Amino acid sequence: MSAPRGEFTSRFGFLMAAAGSAVGLGNIWGFPTNTASNGGAAFLFAYLILAFLLAYPALMAELIIGRHARANAVTALQSLATGPGTRWFALAVGFTGIITVSFILSFYAIVSGWMIAFFFDPLARMLGMDGLAAWLTTDGSLRNSLFLILFMLLTIYIISAGVKEGIEKWASRLMPSLVVILLLLILYVFTLPGAMDGLRAYLVPDFSRLADTSLLVSAMGQAFFSLSLGVGTMLVYGSYISKRENLPVIGSLVALLDVGIAVLAGMLILPAMYVALNSGVEIFDAQGGLIAGPGLIVSVLPALFGTMGVVGVFVALAFFALMTIASLTSSISMLEVPVAYGVESLGVARRKAAIVVGSIITLISLAIVFNFDPWFDRVVTYTTEMSQPLLGLAFCVFAAWIWNRNGVLEEIRQGSPEAADGWFFRIWPFYVKFVCPLAILVVYFQ
Ligand code: PFF
Repeated sequence: MSAPRGEFTSRFGFLMAAAGSAVGLGNIWGFPTNTASNGGAAFLFAYLILAFLLAYPALMAELIIGRHARANAVTALQSLATGPGTRWFALAVGFTGIITVSFILSFYAIVSGWMIAFFFDPLARMLGMDGLAAWLTTDGSLRNSLFLILFMLLTIYIISAGVKEGIEKWASRLMPSLVVILLLLILYVFTLPGAMDGLRAYLVPDFSRLADTSLLVSAMGQAFFSLSLGVGTMLVYGSYISKRENLPVIGSLVALLDVGIAVLAGMLILPAMYVALNSGVEIFDAQGGLIAGPGLIVSVLPALFGTMGVVGVFVALAFFALMTIASLTSSISMLEVPVAYGVESLGVARRKAAIVVGSIITLISLAIVFNFDPWFDRVVTYTTEMSQPLLGLAFCVFAAWIWNRNGVLEEIRQGSPEAADGWFFRIWPFYVKFVCPLAILVVYFQ
């Protein structure tokens, strides 16, 4: 019944795809503002520890299960089941993952649509089409609907082309462009007055904040969302990795790229905000905190670009291209989760699966656009704060409690024969068995 499976053709291709999934709006928008409002480098410190001690082991659980089973999330988890109880559990977790990731994509597409609309704004202004520019930058159901549809069409187009010709090809083009644009923007913003104040606000630590449990909860949530964990994305990408690859090494490269780009993004966003402050733009909200919500992207930064004259047009184009690329390489990984299930377990052709599932998610997105206030925040909270951590926990249970240790070791050995004696296998099983589940539960009930 199953169609032939795709595979990443190179380590670079996998790294770009997985880092592309991980690096998204969460890194460029969420991380910098979270850091600045939660004690600067103290938050960064907590984040780095949580990312490597909790999120990295959970990431590895997904990659190892995925590559072992070489199947979509539902089938992969079921292949580890040891009896009818665990089979049902596998089915429930796999489907909850598919539903959760589809809802994450439904809100992500709306926000990504804003990025595309803001990308066209400087172009419209350059062409003297001020009316169009105003429409592009004013919140409205029609604008939001059209741009989310455009964004979903791009996502569906890439996923229809498959693992090698779609995901790998596009991630390998887009991710290096993202890094180049990010570095160029940082270099430019650093030359502007006020940038160093921003860097200070970003990095000067306020360690007293580490005692605050809400800081740890945010850092952990950020780490899970950022590494795209718990919903099967990394499991499915893991299922396309060659058996010759050294999993612990490529998993740590993905985590490093994700964290590295988040830290770099902070060196752009915070300095840019303080440059804006220097030019008279308001960057604090009524409570005195930094503006971190949509206001940051749709008003603070555009106001800054507006003060830069002609250069501002190019800076705005570059910035919104960066945001769109970051979103797209994440959204394709989300759509791949339900599509892989449709293709492998239901025998649907890839193109058809991508179009059908993509259309359903687009309809959900449209429904959210037309009921924005009551629904948007709720969907974000249910998916990312409630479902995602619990699913992350379930993946750890599968990797460490349901699957046997020898099976895991066998899988890791495939690309790194010395795995049994390496540092990874000495620490990881203990972490995934006890530390990760406990930590996730503690943070969850906070
Ligand atoms: N990691 C992405 C970000 O930081 O924006 C978000 C994400 C991607 C979440 C894929 C979940 C997912 F399955």
